[in-house]
Amino acid sequence: MKNKKLLYAASLACMLLMACSGKPVVESERNLKNVLGNHFLVGVAINHLQLQGQDSAALDIVKTHFNSIVPENCMKCMIIHPEENVYDFELSDRFVAFGEENGMFVVGHCLIWHSQLASWFCTDENGADVSPEVLKQRMKDHITTIVKRYKGRVHGWDVVNEAILEDGSYRNSKFYQILGEEFVPLAFQYAYEADPEAELYYNDYNMHFEGKRRAVIKLVEDLKARGIRIDAVGMQGHVGMEYPQISDFEASIEAFSKLNVKVMITEFDMSALPMVRYSANVTDTVSFEQSMNPYPNELPSRELEAWNKRMMEFMNLFVKHSRHISRVTFWGVTDGDSWKNDFPMRGRTDYPLLFDRNYEPKQFVKELLGE
Ligand code: XIL
Repeated sequence: MKNKKLLYAASLACMLLMACSGKPVVESERNLKNVLGNHFLVGVAINHLQLQGQDSAALDIVKTHFNSIVPENCMKCMIIHPEENVYDFELSDRFVAFGEENGMFVVGHCLIWHSQLASWFCTDENGADVSPEVLKQRMKDHITTIVKRYKGRVHGWDVVNEAILEDGSYRNSKFYQILGEEFVPLAFQYAYEADPEAELYYNDYNMHFEGKRRAVIKLVEDLKARGIRIDAVGMQGHVGMEYPQISDFEASIEAFSKLNVKVMITEFDMSALPMVRYSANVTDTVSFEQSMNPYPNELPSRELEAWNKRMMEFMNLFVKHSRHISRVTFWGVTDGDSWKNDFPMRGRTDYPLLFDRNYEPKQFVKELLGE
């Protein structure tokens, strides 16, 4: 209740400010970055279509409401560095330029990740694993080339993504198999050397699990003890209607807040569909089942209302902890863009984002804007 009041107070203050400034309160001034901007950056993921100029309506929304961007896919290894001696910066250059033109806080995603990793990266010409020395050199080249290219223009990097499992053990990725836990500090060190000014983040999903929470705390403490730079823990936040409990999510925000790093909500979306996998690991897919796609045409009003209510509860949680949360980023602009339509089950119709398929704000957004 207190938090809800806080949000209303923020939007009211913002409208009053505009009214007192003598300028007419025009539609474009009532936007998310105005309403929430004194709490944290308000970010959004940008996709290929938007970067290729094929979705100007979404870009208008981005410019109006958001002050931070992250690329949904175009900086991932298989796209930006498809072969050892081939980099493709076409879309990432456009992405960074768009952020600059619009004065946004630009986040790079992501440097070292087991998914969407180019197939050459960890193997030699015979398909065998490369040696630790070769992998270190490849990581260094990859990170240095990309981070240096955008030095001073990309303000923060997801350096390592999804290295830890829910029980707190390390994911058995190729990076882990070849280098052990050391691949994490190495990646942070290479990124720091390439741009000492950029913020560096560890990013993961299911951060509310106790085991994962404990392991991430240890990872941050170990980096700090070794004098290696880490600025924030990114909590992805691919959540659903039943999952997780907000109190568990809050426990992790609180635990990470005590580490003397920022906390960022980096990939927020809330599926409105029945949960089929409690994971955001992109290869954990299941085959399509009609019964798991209950709302192919529209979300019924009762479910929509529940979705809006829970989104507001999460937003209030973020505002409550905004002393430590420096950014809240949503994983896409409209429901039609969302990866959740195809994950973990391909071909469903989901409703996880702030704007609907007609580019209209959801009720929860309107409430934030004081409408
Ligand atoms: C997803 C993208 O949204 C999809 O378009 C792509 O097919 C798979 O990856 N965690 C992450 C993100 O860190 O990069 C993932 O993005 C979602 C889970």
